[in-house]
Amino acid sequence: MEFGIIASAARLAHNGCAAAWIYGAFILENGSSRRSRLVTERNERRAGAVCRKGEGGRSQVKSKWIGSEEHKRVLCETFVKTHKRFLPEEIEWPELDADSLNRLKSLPIWNEAVKTESSTAVEVQTLGRVEPDPIMADAIALQGYEEGRHAAILGLLTRRYGIAVEPFEEPAPPEDPVRTFLATGYGECLDSFFAFGLFAIGKRSQLFPAALIDIFDPIMQEEARHILFVVNWSAYLRARTPALRRPAYDLRKAWIVADQIVTHARNATRVGGNGSQEGFTMSGHNAFGELSARSFLELCLAENDRRLAPYDPRLLRPALVPSAVRFALRLIPPNRGRASGEPAECPLGGARRAEVSREVFRP
Ligand SMILES: [Fe+2]
Ligand SMILES: [Fe+2]
Repeated sequence: MEFGIIASAARLAHNGCAAAWIYGAFILENGSSRRSRLVTERNERRAGAVCRKGEGGRSQVKSKWIGSEEHKRVLCETFVKTHKRFLPEEIEWPELDADSLNRLKSLPIWNEAVKTESSTAVEVQTLGRVEPDPIMADAIALQGYEEGRHAAILGLLTRRYGIAVEPFEEPAPPEDPVRTFLATGYGECLDSFFAFGLFAIGKRSQLFPAALIDIFDPIMQEEARHILFVVNWSAYLRARTPALRRPAYDLRKAWIVADQIVTHARNATRVGGNGSQEGFTMSGHNAFGELSARSFLELCLAENDRRLAPYDPRLLRPALVPSAVRFALRLIPPNRGRASGEPAECPLGGARRAEVSREVFRP
């Protein structure tokens, strides 16, 4: 009982501190800080877009654009036009040799991944059904379809390669679909940032056949579209909220996101314990051998930028996790043998791969 009260108080304190920091970070994400202006300018230059010059030659912040009909149109059109049509049943699964199969089976993610994708599909599809704006509803319903497709693909993969998955209860539709979409979306922002880095390590290390990597690359890209959508959807809702109610919206969102961060961080410290598979994306780089925290975070940042680069430069990018990681990188000393500012080396190259393969993926 006493422990329960202490645990609740600690959770409250954790969430409160995290919420305060996140509240500040939302200023970044909503496009009103200098940092955000610079990121917007860089996105525009990369995309070759015409830079609208304002006073002092700096491109104008598009804070008025956020929440406009055009913002909604660009967001939803971008999302719908970049959707890839395919059916999970059309996927041709490659034959795996014994080593690759053992590595795949030993990844501690399958129970959690199948369960999470199934519940996310139901959560997003529910919002798609109740969203009153038809343009938004179509885009959200499409995202719900993609999440359902992720769950179906994972189901096919686990059956194809004989990976045992624990049964789980059929997910129930959420009572508050908007709140749940916000929580799920920001949870995806956290997971995807680290998953992008992990996926790049898996690809470069060639621990899995290229044919299998190629199947999952479009799925990672879909997750990039999902997090792009959620931050713009959230900023759109905020901009449409009357000014007097905006601080309440921000605080509610900060609390929801803080809860996601605290939960993800706690899961990352527990991964593997008591059979837990939650939090692998944040701590899973350890499973790939000797990769320093700095190298891993630099790789995640680079992959995050690369995956979000193709989309309309006017759309906001997730800023919360990348800004926290950039700050953390200032505090982490450079890797030995590499001067600060030099690009991260490709992890797990050459002979080290076979060594890691033996060390890490013990069946
Ligand atoms: Fe997904
Ligand atoms: Fe997603």
